[in-house]
Amino acid sequence: MPLKAALIRRDFPIFDRKIRGDNRLVYLDSGATSQKPNIVIDAEADFYRNNNSAVHRGAHQLAEEATEAYEGARLIVAKFLAADGDEIVFTKSATESLNLLAYAMGNAPAGNRFHLGKGDGIVVTEMEHHANLIPWQQLGKRTGASLSWFKVNTDGRLDLSDINSVITEGTKVIALTHQSNVLGTINPLEAIVARAHEVGAVVVLDACQSVPHMKINVGALGVDFLAFSGHKSVGPTGVGVLWGRKELLDELPPFLFGGSMIENVTMTDATWAPVPRKFEAGVPNMAQVVGLGAAIEYLEKIGLENIHEHEVSLVSRLLNGLQSIDGVKIFGPQDLNMRGGVVAFAVEGIHPHDVGQYLDSLGIAVRTGHHCAWPLNKKLSVTATVRASVYLYNDEADIDALIQGVQGAKKYFGDR
Ligand code: ALA
Repeated sequence: MPLKAALIRRDFPIFDRKIRGDNRLVYLDSGATSQKPNIVIDAEADFYRNNNSAVHRGAHQLAEEATEAYEGARLIVAKFLAADGDEIVFTKSATESLNLLAYAMGNAPAGNRFHLGKGDGIVVTEMEHHANLIPWQQLGKRTGASLSWFKVNTDGRLDLSDINSVITEGTKVIALTHQSNVLGTINPLEAIVARAHEVGAVVVLDACQSVPHMKINVGALGVDFLAFSGHKSVGPTGVGVLWGRKELLDELPPFLFGGSMIENVTMTDATWAPVPRKFEAGVPNMAQVVGLGAAIEYLEKIGLENIHEHEVSLVSRLLNGLQSIDGVKIFGPQDLNMRGGVVAFAVEGIHPHDVGQYLDSLGIAVRTGHHCAWPLNKKLSVTATVRASVYLYNDEADIDALIQGVQGAKKYFGDR
């Protein structure tokens, strides 16, 4: 069903404001963080106003209500991913979810399936965001496991031609992005998951750029762990999700130790609560979790299939528009079947930061820079790009404003 972006924007108070003078806000930076609807802002504020209390502790009514709201959000997230509630771990961010995994694996004793040492391998890709690269580099350094990676083709897709020599019998973990935050490439997972499981490795999916934008069923993807953040999904900042297969979460050692994650404690030792609480030490970000539950219900009401379809149509318009401008180079696949709603580009002779600043003067928000993916930028032989990313509240007028803005930037800088 086609989305009515103008109606959707009414749910997001930020679109009432003016930018750089009297310009309307053209927000094309949802890949960095999404805007928030009133329903999410209210859910977070209402929790503080009415139910605030530490979850899983206390015998009073507020503690009971807070726990119900928090655990209710867990069930909403689980249903959203077609998973079970005890497979959902709340963290402070997707970055923390990925670090949690890498640190927990580093804590695994000999004999545990996650134990890593010399002779074991970790596989990543050249298109990873730093959050799904550096934790694995560091895990390799701490344990002696080797790091290898899939390369990126000139058209911005993973080169899987050497899959059997990249994923070997020694590979224990494959960590990759579902959708590149720079190129928009949606990675094909089937062959990678099949090869990973053939050698007994687990697949960790960074789904920050896919979960907010398309229907995800973790069982159908076949991966073993998945991370995403609340703030890119019209939810609050300060909340991330780690999904993992129950039997794997059971075997994974904890990462953070403290209150709420224990079963028994003596002066010299402790045992752990069942998952997911084993991974949720301390008082969690409760209001943010409740806000995330509201965000997911909002997205589901609109329909993830509808959101994806809407974004594909906007990206098609954007690619056509950018291609029609001389000197604009687009990075990443042009085939709409294998890309999502982020488009990185460069304008010949104009630094991406200058393009970004010019667009900003018109009220158009884009991201410029290396987008936390330095190795990929090096591979593309660029130091920076301009990145536009679309979401459910964008419409054709936003895309046309960007295209006219890029034309304006060319004229402005060309005439100087
Ligand atoms: N990871 C976010 C981005 O790609 C911040 O912009």
